[in-house]
Amino acid sequence: MTIACTLNHETVHIQTAPHTRLIDLLREGFSLTAAKAGCLTGDCGACSVIFNRTVAKSCLIPGFRVQDSTIITLEGFAKTDAYKDILNGFAAAGVVTCGYCDSGKILTMEAILAKKPRPGSRKEILAELRGIRCRCTEPESLVAAVLAIADIRQRRLYGRRG
Ligand code: FES
Ligand code: FES
Repeated sequence: MTIACTLNHETVHIQTAPHTRLIDLLREGFSLTAAKAGCLTGDCGACSVIFNRTVAKSCLIPGFRVQDSTIITLEGFAKTDAYKDILNGFAAAGVVTCGYCDSGKILTMEAILAKKPRPGSRKEILAELRGIRCRCTEPESLVAAVLAIADIRQRRLYGRRG
């Protein structure tokens, strides 16, 4: 089948089998390799993309669901000021990146703050972060990063703290 979708703000077409995973379409069809093939079972988040405005695991999305969808990969998101907010928040909270877990960590944090620019309690943030795995960062540092990014974004957008 030929699939049409919007990928990183451009209309694209690709020939694929209906059950080919989105991660394979991205990596092999479009040479977009920021989403990594980790567990391929929906547990690690390394394959995350923004799919129809929600963070989603591309290893769980079959080709037939991609028709008419809107996808933003980390490569596309990396061109935004929102991405810079996240890197600055990581630096403030001592959170590292490794190239493997980045799509999950960065796009999940963006999804948390898109939903709630003033993040909720520590417990709520930890619940939102459940879908990603980073072996080298304590959960508390990830919570601190979400809070730091929220502050940085509020200052960039409104010139004040969140
Ligand atoms: S590779 Fe998709 S969640 Fe792990
Ligand atoms: S920084 Fe990527 S797994 Fe921890």
